[in-house]
Amino acid sequence: MKDILTAPFILEMIRTATNMYDHGWDERNGGNISLLLDEAEVKEYLDTDHAIRAIPTGFSAPELDGKYFLVTGTGKYFKNVQYAPEVNLGLVRLADGGETAELLWGYTDGGKFTSEFPAHMMSHVARLKVDPNNRVVMHCHPANLLAMTYVHDLDERAFTRTLWQMCTECIVVFPDGVNVLPWMLCGTNEIGEATAKKMETARLVVWAQHGIYGAGKDLDETFGLIETAEKAAEIYMKIAHLPLKQTITDEQMHQLEAHFGVKAREGYLA
Ligand code: 13P
Ligand code: ZN
Repeated sequence: MKDILTAPFILEMIRTATNMYDHGWDERNGGNISLLLDEAEVKEYLDTDHAIRAIPTGFSAPELDGKYFLVTGTGKYFKNVQYAPEVNLGLVRLADGGETAELLWGYTDGGKFTSEFPAHMMSHVARLKVDPNNRVVMHCHPANLLAMTYVHDLDERAFTRTLWQMCTECIVVFPDGVNVLPWMLCGTNEIGEATAKKMETARLVVWAQHGIYGAGKDLDETFGLIETAEKAAEIYMKIAHLPLKQTITDEQMHQLEAHFGVKAREGYLA
């Protein structure tokens, strides 16, 4: 059996959590990540017949039964993941129709998965239906996207169009746009279900006055997705109070669609 601390999925998780912390997106214990793993890659490092303990999830997700996830722990600081991955991360396998998470590695201080586990798992179910290569759900609190939810209309089309207008390549990176949830109590099955519903039509879901969720095929791509939206929000927060002299027009957006071979969300461009 190989040492799990050398596994590419652990190393990439450490790098990503550290990078997110360094970007200022994950103060204190803010943010959480879940990464879907293949049984074969897990078996290289762990005896999958041996579960350390079983943790009730509080929801059901039969589509994920038997699936393996590497997940950040609740109350854990992204800043510390690199120093003690076995405390701050856990590797679980869902069982009993998703109602139980069998811990195979990690959470060595007796901890458990993020309080946003419902939003993560339900979002995985939703995204896997759209794209079977979706492996990552990522949540964080980037300052400019958050700030924007205080001053910008939360209408999804309007919010998306503003972000697209802030950097030329936004429409190429997230042609599906950004879905938005109004403020809701976090850490609940209700916000999990609402987030998953929004994930059916976009890979980015803003939680007003809280943060953002991103989904993608790997950690790098999902990080880049949030990074691009956050950069656009940063430009918006720099210019929103200034007189606007020009923007990226819908005609120019159509040129980008044609040139990069992407299709903007139906009805979002004139
Ligand atoms: P956890 O520490 O439970 O992951 O919660 C952090 C967070 O961002 C809640 O939305
Ligand atoms: Zn949060």
